[in-house]
Amino acid sequence: MKTVKLLILIFLAISSVAFAHSGVKDENVKKRMMVMKAMADNTKIIGQMLKGKISFDANEAKLALERLSSLSLETPEVFKVNATDPKSEAKSSIWDELDEFTKLSKDLAETTEVLAGSVVTINDLRPALKRVSSGCKACHSKYRE
Ligand code: HEC
Repeated sequence: MKTVKLLILIFLAISSVAFAHSGVKDENVKKRMMVMKAMADNTKIIGQMLKGKISFDANEAKLALERLSSLSLETPEVFKVNATDPKSEAKSSIWDELDEFTKLSKDLAETTEVLAGSVVTINDLRPALKRVSSGCKACHSKYRE
């Protein structure tokens, strides 16, 4: 668990550099976008392995899924403050329905945790990616513009 947390910190540090130019001023909004960016980066690793753009490595896939799980648990934390920014795509209903928002995050955290323990061959990636994507979509369709 410690390595996962450390990796997330590294991830956030890297993505904060990439974010320096995005024009988001609000620190809370920036932070939650960085968590989302890390979610996208980790999902991309699985997608690229599936497409053969990077070679299949069960352990790397497992690590990406574990990071997705930790990031999902972190999601309600970084959305706690009802912050806004002209660049934000967050719907304000999040803060009226924090319980539901938290539940969707926890669902994805559990799904990715289970998937992390189940990826053995490259054939496991497609169903895994499908489940991850539907977890992202479940929240985006409700709470993202
Ligand atoms: C519980 C809700 C929730 C879940 C689960 C979730 N997201 Fe998001 N995501 C959001 C919200 C809300 C925004 C808009 C944030 C904003 O603009 O302030 C967002 C924004 C994003 C963005 C855009 C960030 C930016 O730069 O503006 C990306 C990329 C993203 N999500 C990827 C993902 C991926 C990939 C997953 C699944 C692995 C995922 N998200 C799961 C709620 C969620």
